[in-house]
Amino acid sequence: MSRYCVEISALYKTFKETNVLAIDNLNLNIPRGQIVGLIGADAAGKTTLLRLISGLLLPDSGEIRTLGLSPDRDKDLLNTKIGYMPQKFGLYEDLSIIDNLNFYADLKDIPRDFDKMLAFADLKRFETRPAGKLSGGMKQKLGLICALAGNPELILLDEPSVGVDPISRRELLKMVRETITDNTSVVWSTAYMDEAHGFDTVIVIDKGRVVYQGNPYELAPNTQEFEEKVIELMGGYKQEESPVAKNYAAPENIPDYTVEALDLVKKYGDFYAVKNNTFHIKKGEIFGLLGPNGAGKSTSFKMMCGLAKPTAGTARIMGTDIVEHPSRARARLGYMAQKFSLYQNLSVRQNLDFFAGAYGLRGNEAREAAARMVRVFNFEKYLDVNSGDLPLGYKQRLSLACALMHNPAVLFLDEPTSGVDVITRREFWNHITALAKKGVTILVTTHFMDEAEFCDRISLFYKGETIATGTPAELKKKAGAATMEDTFINLILSSEEK
Ligand SMILES: Nc1ncnc2c1ncn2[C@@H]1O[C@H](COP(=O)(O)OP(=O)(O)OP(=O)(O)O)[C@@H](O)[C@H]1O
Ligand SMILES: [Mg+2]
Repeated sequence: MSRYCVEISALYKTFKETNVLAIDNLNLNIPRGQIVGLIGADAAGKTTLLRLISGLLLPDSGEIRTLGLSPDRDKDLLNTKIGYMPQKFGLYEDLSIIDNLNFYADLKDIPRDFDKMLAFADLKRFETRPAGKLSGGMKQKLGLICALAGNPELILLDEPSVGVDPISRRELLKMVRETITDNTSVVWSTAYMDEAHGFDTVIVIDKGRVVYQGNPYELAPNTQEFEEKVIELMGGYKQEESPVAKNYAAPENIPDYTVEALDLVKKYGDFYAVKNNTFHIKKGEIFGLLGPNGAGKSTSFKMMCGLAKPTAGTARIMGTDIVEHPSRARARLGYMAQKFSLYQNLSVRQNLDFFAGAYGLRGNEAREAAARMVRVFNFEKYLDVNSGDLPLGYKQRLSLACALMHNPAVLFLDEPTSGVDVITRREFWNHITALAKKGVTILVTTHFMDEAEFCDRISLFYKGETIATGTPAELKKKAGAATMEDTFINLILSSEEK
């Protein structure tokens, strides 16, 4: 048996439709029996590589062997040996968690044996809930369970921890480590540098080539230094004045409190998605609503921008009651949803034009707003690409652009950086902090605890209720922890004990 689970030489893959060279003379041997991290910029070729390894895509030229087999000729045999979690994991939204899993087990001809993994992922208690009604992170966990089921020899995970909270991320990794055997190989693509740093080997991909392969500790012994090294390998990041903020008209006529959540409650049947959410945000503040998967963050966001009707309570945007005057309140508000919610079949240009119109901009004003967004976000080369086909980092940029088009005074960002690469994350936060300095009020959520540090104040939200509010320093003190990650974990776990 070869020491490698995947052997690749001189591999090329072009996408004919867009004429993009995604894999460019790639040479790579992936060691067997390890957890190998795959990292790189958005559109660097990670997903393409995973799909080539699994046989879902065929290369233009070059050699590829997966578990000693040809992904092309031995596809059926290979299928029984691989567990693959794609980036866009397809769940049947109308089927419950357990029905989805059983269906998957039958398809792959493996036992319907999920109790342990469901308990691990804290999904056991939601077993009968339709997948369409799960929070973003809960869906990711369900996808991972499918990939691990049946003990495959090679497990390919395309960003399994996107949108997964810090506690669950530790649990997912533990779940993988305890499920696999010494001979199982795992290739795990991730944008979390702390996660990659803990793997046995990391492979850094840039522009369709391998730019580093080796032990992450050898690259840098410390997570923070490791992140800097990876950024260097990806071409580096130089912080510049945010063009987005620079071209933004500072909001006028601002009340003391720009965003207020007032005893917000949301019930689905007997289940409280939000039990009580109350907070007040001042002009220009960056307010972080943080909490584990399923805490009720997105539900709160949706109620606050008038997309979901509160069971009780209300919210005020710039002093206007969202329940009583939804369109007036929304005119001052930009919302970036957690799930990409633009028109996938419209091009970048068409989406920008559409949203300019939707926000009430007309004629020259609309054209200028769209042109400004193209300029400040560098959309030039993607103008005619369907938004559904954009690399994830560009999807997120486009969502942000559409939310900013009408110069709102208040910005709601539901996981704006989930799934984007480390350089794009820095770019996003550069925009966010600069917009706040201009007086834009920002409500944001994230599962990256290093990003939580950029918030002026944080509300830690768990099971529909606020369990702590304060500046990052105040929360750390309260939790007796040095990092935000430990702060989050300590405060959630101690609330759980109560
Ligand atoms: N239509 C619905 N019917 C029943 N339950 C729902 C519905 N929508 C959401 N929920 C439940 O409400 C809870 C809160 O979900 P929400 O999406 O607000 O969580 P979240 O804090 O945003 O989580 P994540 O970090 O994973 O995005 C979850 O348990 C979810 O399954
Ligand atoms: Mg959410």
